[in-house]
Amino acid sequence: MSSPSHNKGLHSVEPLHPEVGAEIRGVDLASHLDRSTIDLLHTLWMKYLVLVFPDQSITDEQHICFGRKFGDLEEHPSRAHRSSLNKEIYRVSNVDETGNIIPSNETAWQYINLSWLWHTDSSFRKIPSKGSILHGIQTTKKGGHTRYANMYAAYEGLPKNKRKQIDNLWVIHDHDFIIKQSAELSNKPDKGDYEALPPVRHPLVQIHPITGRRSLFLSPHTMVGIEGMADMKGRDLLDELIVHTVNPKYVYTHVWTNDDVLMWDNRCTMHSVEPFDNLNIRRVMHRVTLVGENYPIPARQNK
Ligand code: OGA
Ligand code: MN
Repeated sequence: MSSPSHNKGLHSVEPLHPEVGAEIRGVDLASHLDRSTIDLLHTLWMKYLVLVFPDQSITDEQHICFGRKFGDLEEHPSRAHRSSLNKEIYRVSNVDETGNIIPSNETAWQYINLSWLWHTDSSFRKIPSKGSILHGIQTTKKGGHTRYANMYAAYEGLPKNKRKQIDNLWVIHDHDFIIKQSAELSNKPDKGDYEALPPVRHPLVQIHPITGRRSLFLSPHTMVGIEGMADMKGRDLLDELIVHTVNPKYVYTHVWTNDDVLMWDNRCTMHSVEPFDNLNIRRVMHRVTLVGENYPIPARQNK
């Protein structure tokens, strides 16, 4: 691992894993950041995929303001998880807005539990999110770590014949598939209050619009199957790719400290939360989600 380097005296940048993640110090996300600082952060973001900013005690409004420097913000389709004060804030939390741990038989608790599965944010949208910025407000070190996989490296690590086999495949993604993966949620009449989202199709191998690099686009919690392939065959291939990708050589695991802010690129990473005792431990995270700007670019156009 390389030692900290310095850029323009503004930031110290320390890689956290050989493939993904860097810690950035010396920047105050609550302050007015000029264009050159934002451009520099953007360059670092494209290089490291996940940026970790420690010691950022920001308000939701400052969080939103920082997010907007990188583009428009989504409103999460789960209405129950939007902050009542700021609709751009998605509350990834087992604690309700009055500070109580949500009972485990409630839909809101069960939906959040699904972030323990590997996924990519907003893969259920026609244009998935570009990136997410998550503020750890109340965190724990007893589990609840967040894992990030580098999907460029995972793609590049596949044998050549496998890359050729998958380069022009398309995957069906569906928000309803998330709910199907929770036995409790599937069996309930109240599955929650979500915006209507029809299934969508995304290329399995995509070209990043900024870096031009190829990466796998996997989101196990929304992937129904591969277009034009028998269900079982499609699932088997996706499962094989997931197992390949979650190898520690492609994955950085973040152990949270309160007021860490993490910013990741959804076009070339996927993530999951490690289980923790969510019946007893409070974990409050606020997220803003950057709207994707373009349809994902397929690695091969001949489809
Ligand atoms: C998210 C998510 C990560 C976490 O915010 O997109 O999946 O650490 N949660 O809670
Ligand atoms: Mn997520």
